[in-house]
This record gives sequence, structure tokens and C-alpha cells, in this order.
Amino acid sequence: MTHTISVIQQKGGCGKSTLTVSLASILAGEGHNVIIPDTDALRSSSLWAEQEVASRGEIDHVHETNDNEISGLLRELQGQYNYTLVDTAGFNTRIAAYVAAASDLVLIPCTATIADIQGAINTQRFLSKLSAEIGKAINSAVVRTDFKRGQINDDAISAKLTEEADLDVLDAVLWQSTTFKTALNTGQHLRGLAKAHSQELVRELRSKRLIPPAITHKEAA
Ligand SMILES: Nc1ncnc2c1ncn2[C@@H]1O[C@H](COP(=O)(O)OP(=O)(O)OP(=O)(O)O)[C@@H](O)[C@H]1O
Ligand SMILES: [Mg+2]
Repeated sequence: MTHTISVIQQKGGCGKSTLTVSLASILAGEGHNVIIPDTDALRSSSLWAEQEVASRGEIDHVHETNDNEISGLLRELQGQYNYTLVDTAGFNTRIAAYVAAASDLVLIPCTATIADIQGAINTQRFLSKLSAEIGKAINSAVVRTDFKRGQINDDAISAKLTEEADLDVLDAVLWQSTTFKTALNTGQHLRGLAKAHSQELVRELRSKRLIPPAITHKEAA
């Protein structure tokens, strides 16, 4: 059974592609079969995936920006992979709606800015409305990205975010680290702090049963 996780935020530049690639790196590194459907014309996450990096192994990717095609594509991928990780573009609500409707979990990245908080709130409202319209629950959670530990402004934004009743803000944070940029630019697996923070996120998603349990061995090819 494919588990579909999508990364959606109305506000651009909030770490969507970083989060998508980070999850792909950790889950594929554990031996899961992973595909990234990239629905952003900028192709940040598929450009990461298409780099042939010997130590990384294969992470499949597909680029689809046509909102008439995306639901069919996600249906087609069902059963072929352990995880489908969908990267989206900011502001394209039509494609985001199709993607969210087909997802088991929507992650909403949010950096330490007021604009991102507003974007996260708007995204959650959009998901709640969509969920009511299609009559299907849509699990969602906010992931703080690019926060700096112990910074007064960032701590204040964290407090403000967690006060928002409609948002489920995860404890794990993709703390600011150049190791995220290094991975994205080179196509490598996450290393160092980026890896540690992302593993923490995956652990939390599992402990909250938002994603399935880990598999303990690589599946036979
Ligand atoms: N935890 C982090 N530490 C350091 N840099 C980060 C982190 N998360 C994101 N960034 C940086 O922030 C910038 C925006 O991130 P990213 O491209 O992932 O956002 P996006 O939401 O996908 O943007 P777009 O809307 O353009 O698709 C990038 O330069 C990325 O390297
Ligand atoms: Mg992006």
C-alpha cells in the first residue's frame, strides 16, 4: 500500500522542496521505495532526485504540472511504492486541492515569519474546507523549517504558531542548517544535522501514527 504524503503551503519559499527531499532521503535510506511527484514548474525536488548519486541509490521522480493529470497519476502510483512524496508550488490551489484530496497526510512547512504563519493558517483553512466538501478527513500537520534555536523572534513565532487551535504543530523542527542546502544542491542523501533533524521528524510522524511503521529490511528487487 502506497502512503501518500504531500507538502503544501500557500506561501512560497517556506521549505516545501527541502522537506520533500528530506523525507525522501530518510525513507529511501531506510530501504523504502520512494517516488517524488513534483508538481512545481521550478522542479527543485525532481532536480535533486534526478542527479545520479551512486551512494544514494535510486529515488524515482516524475514531473507533473497539469492539474487535469495529477489525480490520475497519483492513482496510478498507488501500490507501486511504499511512499509517494508530492512537492507542490505555492499558490496553485487547484493542483494543491487534487493532491491534498489524494493524500494520507499533508505537511505544511512554516518558517519563522509572520507571512509563513498566515500562509500555514490559510493552508489549513483550505484543507478543512476541502475535507468538508469531499467528505474525507485530511490529516495535516505543520513542520517548522529553517528556525534558529534560541532566537527570540523564532521562539515568539513558535509560541504564536502553537497557539493557533486549528494547527497541529509537530515538535520536530527542521532547524536551520547548511547541510539541507548541501543535500539539495548535490543530490546527496542528507548528512549531519539535516539528517538528524529529519530522522527526528520521521520518528515523530511514526509515533503519532501519521505514517506507517518502519520496515526493517530492504525489499527484494
Ligand atoms: N532547515 C533549513 N536550513 C537551512 N536552509 C533551509 C532550511 N529549509 C529551507 N531552507 C532554504 O530556504 C530556501 C527555500 O527552501 P525551499 O526551496 O525548500 O522552499 P520551497 O517552499 O520549496 O520554495 P518554492 O516556493 O520556491 O518552491 C532554500 O534556499 C533552502 O535551502
Ligand atoms: Mg519548492
